[in-house]
Amino acid sequence: MKVVKTIDEVRAQVREWRAQGLTVGLVPTMGYLHEGHASLIDASHRDNDRTVVSDFVNPMQFGPTEDLESYPRDIERDAKLVEEHGGDIIFNPEPSEMYHEGFSSFVDMTVLTQELCGLSRPVHFRGVCTVVSKLFNIVKPDRAYFGKKDAQQLAVIRHMVDDLNMDIEIIGCPIVREADGLAKSSRNTYLSEAEREAALVLSKAVFLGMDMVKKGEKDCSAIIGEMKKLIESEPLARIDYVKIVDCATMQQITCLDRPALCAMAAYIGSTRLIDNFFTEDV
Ligand code: PAJ
Repeated sequence: MKVVKTIDEVRAQVREWRAQGLTVGLVPTMGYLHEGHASLIDASHRDNDRTVVSDFVNPMQFGPTEDLESYPRDIERDAKLVEEHGGDIIFNPEPSEMYHEGFSSFVDMTVLTQELCGLSRPVHFRGVCTVVSKLFNIVKPDRAYFGKKDAQQLAVIRHMVDDLNMDIEIIGCPIVREADGLAKSSRNTYLSEAEREAALVLSKAVFLGMDMVKKGEKDCSAIIGEMKKLIESEPLARIDYVKIVDCATMQQITCLDRPALCAMAAYIGSTRLIDNFFTEDV
């Protein structure tokens, strides 16, 4: 397992693999890896001969008041985890390697990014689409792996690949949770003990919503209402949004008459966390 810092080194390695007829999977991450990321690496290792994990805190997808500076980083710990899960190289570039002076091309998306996290994080998906396109062009993988934890991101990437005819199969992987239900996230490290306890209200709301869907509830406002009531009962939680959207368009719907995503974002203290469920997975 190698940690590689330059685009040229990644390309040389992938070229060598291609010459041997090997398939390549890509797992894009921002590092500080946990079992959620590990599940994507496992899936890629299972499906492909070689796996590249990118480990890059992408400045372009952070807003001016967001946590770019404080985002946790630990490349040595990451390298160990990638090796344990069968990854072959980590691509860990400096920002200057990805964004040279004068960088001025972007991949942007309308419609799908105008709801949910796109509303509260206006520059976020332009940054995600741009960096993921660059990673696709650098690695040229057969398959790329994304978590359902970031459900809107997964939908946006699928749409981008379709719109721009990128010849890459996108694989969506289930949310990995802590034993008590909290969705694993690199940002969980920001939580104090009291906030960690309070954060449980998010997964509890997800399970409540899933239960209502399982019992046949079709009225989106009834589901959202109960989930919000639960989250609002936690004094340390402040809701950003709880919404139900069409899976394909990310536009809000009122009735569960098609495959839908129920997604939420909430601040626990000053940490913004997300969680969700797809009605198809209920
Ligand atoms: P990051 O937040 O590091 O997440 C990398 C990948 O891991 C994403 O596809 C995310 O959905 C997945 N992931 C995170 N937590 C998970 C969990 N608990 N269960 C399953 N999968 C989980 O998402 C990004 O980085 C960036 O936006 C990126 C795509 C790398 C572009 O910069």
